Amino acid sequence: MIELSRKEDGTSDTEVFAKDVAHGLSQEPKSLPSRYFYDAAGSKLFQGIMALPEYYLTRCEFKVLTENREEMARQFAANGFFHLIDLGAGDAMKTKVLLRELSQQKSAFDYVPVDISGTAMSQLRDSLQQEMPSVDVQAVVGEYFPALEWLQDNKAARKVVLFLGSNIGNFKADESKRFLQRVCSNLSKADKLLMGIDLRKDPDVVLSAYNDASGVTAEFNLNLLRRINRELGGNFNVDQFQHYPIYNPHEGVMRSFLVSKEDQDVYIQSTGQTFHFDAWEAVHTENSHKYTLQQVYELGKACGFSVETVFQDKACRFADVLFTVD
Ligand code: AVI
Repeated sequence: MIELSRKEDGTSDTEVFAKDVAHGLSQEPKSLPSRYFYDAAGSKLFQGIMALPEYYLTRCEFKVLTENREEMARQFAANGFFHLIDLGAGDAMKTKVLLRELSQQKSAFDYVPVDISGTAMSQLRDSLQQEMPSVDVQAVVGEYFPALEWLQDNKAARKVVLFLGSNIGNFKADESKRFLQRVCSNLSKADKLLMGIDLRKDPDVVLSAYNDASGVTAEFNLNLLRRINRELGGNFNVDQFQHYPIYNPHEGVMRSFLVSKEDQDVYIQSTGQTFHFDAWEAVHTENSHKYTLQQVYELGKACGFSVETVFQDKACRFADVLFTVD
């Protein structure tokens, strides 16, 4: 397993978290970055979200990959050996559909899952060893870009990058452009990118995916405050905040908030600051963008990619789009 060092400036993860929280809660309006959802408790809650009846995204993408696996595998392997790089691989539940197919087609490839969680990567390596011993796995523990840069420097062969799960939707519009441009700058002409994208659909369907009846998404959102309490010595009374998601069908953006139910002060030890929340003041915690296909083509173009194939489930309105480098 390759472990890429995280920071050169000596700042700890907790210090960065504290700085980002202090910054977000000092803004008007207040916000907290959604990347901090995923501590151990948050990752477990996200597993629960993916199994919810309302959260169609995971099921739909699984269906798209399952139904199109033969064609995808053929297109990946069309020009000989390649590295299959899975950004944010996690347990690779969906990627395994493709790995099985690639193995069956006897494609020449190795699998390079990339994830920030060392535990997730060692578990994945072990499970693949059991389930698909013929697949050559080189797990990388690190952030996406150091991993892509490391690959660019150390692995000369063609690359097929996977960025599944509609994770792109969690970036702000300018961030998603910057992200894809940077992915593109680490790829070469014959390389490809397969990206999962949630498409525009019935607003009620979108809203209930982020406002499930059993309250798992609410717990996922509130866990951000619990994490601040645990890791930064905050004294949030989590019961005094409520999960509030809202979908804007005009923009295609699902936005999640934590709303303060009362006028309250919260002290955070690590930042040494007290933050005031007015009654019904909202803290923005997440965006989940839903795209039109036109936007997908334009986003690709703006970042140096062309769409090769759109694999989609028309009923679900979820797409896995295969891009080539221009
Ligand atoms: C990880 N990401 C694509 C999820 C989404 O649908 O935006 C995160 C999530 N937030 C609430 N539910 C799921």
